Amino acid sequence: MPIEPPRGTNDHGPDAMARRRAVEGILRETAQRFGFREIGTPTLESLELFTAKSGPGIVKELYAFKDKGGRDVALRPEFTASIVRFYLSELRNLPKPIKVYSVGNVFRYEEPQKGRYREFTQFNAEIIGAPALPGDAEVIALALECLRAVGIKEVQVRIGHIGLLRSYLRLAPEDQGKVLHWLDKRNFTALREELRRLELQDLEDPLRRFVELKGGVEIFTKAAEALPGVRPQGFEYLRSLAARLRDYGVENVTFDLGVVRGLDYYTGMVFEVDSPNLGAEKQVMGGGAYNLAETLGGDPVPQTGFAFGLDRILMAADAEGVKLPTSRLDCFVIPIGEPAQSRGIEVLRDLRRAGVSADIDLAARGPSKNLDYANALRARYAVLIGEAELNKRLVSVKDLDSGKQEEIPLEALIERARGQRPRA
Ligand code: HAM
Repeated sequence: MPIEPPRGTNDHGPDAMARRRAVEGILRETAQRFGFREIGTPTLESLELFTAKSGPGIVKELYAFKDKGGRDVALRPEFTASIVRFYLSELRNLPKPIKVYSVGNVFRYEEPQKGRYREFTQFNAEIIGAPALPGDAEVIALALECLRAVGIKEVQVRIGHIGLLRSYLRLAPEDQGKVLHWLDKRNFTALREELRRLELQDLEDPLRRFVELKGGVEIFTKAAEALPGVRPQGFEYLRSLAARLRDYGVENVTFDLGVVRGLDYYTGMVFEVDSPNLGAEKQVMGGGAYNLAETLGGDPVPQTGFAFGLDRILMAADAEGVKLPTSRLDCFVIPIGEPAQSRGIEVLRDLRRAGVSADIDLAARGPSKNLDYANALRARYAVLIGEAELNKRLVSVKDLDSGKQEEIPLEALIERARGQRPRA
């Protein structure tokens, strides 16, 4: 029996990996353009980092275990908690606001299905120490620019404010967390049970009406009617945010008061992006403003950010037929006959040193088998060197896309191959 990879994990072949790297590269480049700088944190963290606040959703989903020294550790289920830990120990000394991004694998013990894995990749961005409004607008603008840069157009961006519900539900944090959890899951039976336990059953209908409100600024009046006494500052904040986003060129924002988010640390603006082309797991991004620094023992500081699921971005890009830039092998060198062998290696070396990607026959195959192999690798040029080419100090270059073949000096091939990069 072949050994299977663990449930919910994925292998990525060369083509799939090239596509992943292409998207990752676009996201990195976009974040850099927005002034974010990359940081790295460990894949393995102390368990307590996540049990401090991440919420019932995530705690159950952790890959947690004791290491050989008996310490409780967990594979990171996300980046935010690690980044705030790093902020409190070190990054806080950097000039504020601190704008950082990270890319890497995260682990959640979930029930796997299409688009939902136990190991997946996140692209995460955070701003720590910028006032709420400009910080939130900047992270939303970055998230939308990332999607635009990848070429994904069919997305639904929904912006809400969890502070509205939090300030309305004046409950002990644990009770509030449970009510919000069932609202997030839209599990109204469990919500009813919870509210009954808290002797707040009258709140069920208003809360249900509130989380179903979606649209433009007009929903704020309805929201205030649904939950009389809800603090109006949240609505004013969302209006100002929409105005600031217009300056970024983001028009027609959709507000959705039902964005509750699965993680417990959010306190203010929350937002999500869906790709309607994906099935049940259509959320490609989630984020918002939060207060983890205080939970982890630090001073209050505004924090806001988001994470994309890379796997889901790729699925959304596929569904829309987005063409992603991928690099191809430039040259496959085919020396023909014994005397051409060492010239073949010389040509290979010169191509590689000139920055041209090049490969050579390692299997002692004949020219026609080598051409098949070069085609299978999707090389751009086959570089044939036989006796005639040796004598003339030229190479025969076959363009594998057009089939055209010509004898040219090596320098001309280098120039041609270099001139064609980057390409789709
Ligand atoms: P999250 O919504 O839990 O937020 O995850 C962010 C994104 O990761 C989701 O929108 C989704 O695309 C992807 N994702 C989540 N679970 C899975 C899974 N099992 N398989 C594949 N993709 C998945 C966070 O993680 C927050 N830390 C985001 C954040 C940063 N908030 C503030 N700063």
